Amino acid sequence: MKKPSSKIDFTQKVITIQGLTKAFDEYEVLKGVDLDLYKGENLVVLGRSGTGKSVLIKIISGLLRQDGGYANVLGQEVDKLTPKQLDELRLKIGFSFQNSALYDSMTVKENLEFPLIRHSKDMTARDRSRIIDVVLEAVGLAQTINQMPSELSGGQRKRIGIARTLILRPEIMLYDEPTAGLDPITSQDINNLINEVQRRFNTSSIIITHDLTCAKAVGNRIVMLLDGQFQRQGSFEEVFDTEDERVKAFYNYNFTE
Ligand SMILES: Nc1ncnc2c1ncn2[C@@H]1O[C@H](COP(=O)(O)OP(=O)(O)OP(=O)(O)O)[C@@H](O)[C@H]1O
Ligand SMILES: [Mg+2]
Repeated sequence: MKKPSSKIDFTQKVITIQGLTKAFDEYEVLKGVDLDLYKGENLVVLGRSGTGKSVLIKIISGLLRQDGGYANVLGQEVDKLTPKQLDELRLKIGFSFQNSALYDSMTVKENLEFPLIRHSKDMTARDRSRIIDVVLEAVGLAQTINQMPSELSGGQRKRIGIARTLILRPEIMLYDEPTAGLDPITSQDINNLINEVQRRFNTSSIIITHDLTCAKAVGNRIVMLLDGQFQRQGSFEEVFDTEDERVKAFYNYNFTE
């Protein structure tokens, strides 16, 4: 599998997180997480179920508030923003959630048009069409433009979901379990798409997964969340070159290729 030929700018951080803590009642999920995301980088976050990966991206996107530490996204401290500033910041972040549902009663084109009509009110129908064509072509599904979501496969729906996210030209992409529930071939398509998005749109991305084939295929850098902190980081090989039994168990359980 080909590694992305990305242009990562290590002098520019788009996300800086330091000492982040978060507990629910007595249960400390994040116990001091530090993380930098560089411009143009694909960063993979690995970790067992329930370790706080989704909590982390919810804090990044302002859906949850941390107890301690700080999260700076595109130069702004997320928990210090007014609701209006937060809305503006969120427009620069694309989310691909596990169940990013499409509107079933709308065609693919209408699904993609929806965010544009909502957020780019001055845009002409013609400009909207042009942008829709660009993103549909980028996800390799130009031919589905007039189809209904029910006529698409699971993998195709996932790609349209990503296209809908790309339509507002986000600077940051957050993928939460992008390949969950997909067969190996379809997963590979999604991995290729994540790399294609990085190349074409120069986005910086966090990819949360426990699919190690995905981690290997898309990650420029990999971090592993263990007991509330990032305890391993580096290339795929570096992260797993350890005697730590927890890391070995994660590898043996999740790597199937
Ligand atoms: N809003 C909430 N209220 C209470 N507890 C929560 C809330 N959100 C998350 N948690 C708890 O925090 C822990 C981490 O949850 P999180 O969803 O981040 O896990 P995850 O690493 O994304 O797991 P998975 O791989 O299964 O998606 C879990 O124990 C969960 O029950
Ligand atoms: Mg999760």
